[in-house]
Amino acid sequence: MDYSVYVTRLIPRPAIELLEKDCSVELNNKDRVLTKRELVQKVKGKDGILCLLTDTIDGEVIEAADKARVFANFAVGYDNIDVDAATRRGILVTNTPGVLTDTTAELAWALVFAAARRLPEADRFTREGKFSGWSPTLFLGQDVTGKTLGVVGAGRIGTAFAEKSRGFRMKVLYHDIERNTDFEKHTGGVYVSLETLLKEADVVSIHVPLTEATVHLIGKDELRKMKRTAILVNTSRGPVVNETDLAEALANNEITGAGLDVYEQEPRIHPALLALDNVVLAPHIGSASVETRTKMGVMAAENLLAALRGEIPDNLVNPEALDRRR
Ligand code: DGY
Repeated sequence: MDYSVYVTRLIPRPAIELLEKDCSVELNNKDRVLTKRELVQKVKGKDGILCLLTDTIDGEVIEAADKARVFANFAVGYDNIDVDAATRRGILVTNTPGVLTDTTAELAWALVFAAARRLPEADRFTREGKFSGWSPTLFLGQDVTGKTLGVVGAGRIGTAFAEKSRGFRMKVLYHDIERNTDFEKHTGGVYVSLETLLKEADVVSIHVPLTEATVHLIGKDELRKMKRTAILVNTSRGPVVNETDLAEALANNEITGAGLDVYEQEPRIHPALLALDNVVLAPHIGSASVETRTKMGVMAAENLLAALRGEIPDNLVNPEALDRRR
């Protein structure tokens, strides 16, 4: 076997080594996202492409991938890929679910606490030499223990996030397009409407995939329903939250704080958010632990190899493509 594979950016070494056993691997060694033009050139003639969430795999790229049998995405989300276009051409699309669940849920908790206890602000203050001694009114934040948690999206990451609230003795409310009894079994969560969740939760954390239905799921009207003391956390996809509306709500103290790992137009961050102290901004690092990024790479490589061998990859997102596969 000597398949020709393109990897769109440097990923952990074990994944590359796995691919190299059976494939000629060409790798984008520059530590940056490829331009559309580069991507279109590179996918030509390749049997498989291991791509990232920062690569826009649209109809044009898929057309250019004249020999491709698979696009293996190094991410659980695959909104960067035009899956329908791939399916029409019989190209399999895979993702990396499961391995990043706890890591992303942990980052969501890190953002909850960073926002609730104003840690980045306090860190800046301390480094700037402004700490002149303990004060009863210095950096007062919000407690989390015993409060109400609102989880929007009851999938794997939402469930792991809610499970971890047990130590904080929180009441868990959740919302999704439908009830999820697994979520309830694992977390004791109660299914409510989005409106009830927003009105009652002290911490609202978003864990939905990006689809047409979830674009701007949280905007002005939703933010107005939240408590003034509430915190909003988003580790899913940026466009789920209307950033202009969020910045306005934070500036007017309509909610007390927010923690964001994702943005509407990454890597651009809304200037109004950058100017605010009551929002914690992380650079899309939800799954960024050494262990998890390695597992994601190996999983993406295994998916890709399985597709090239004519097997059904474990994490196939478009089984409809199997009937038309190349
Ligand atoms: C994913 O896998 O979709 C994450 O956003 C990557 O960290």
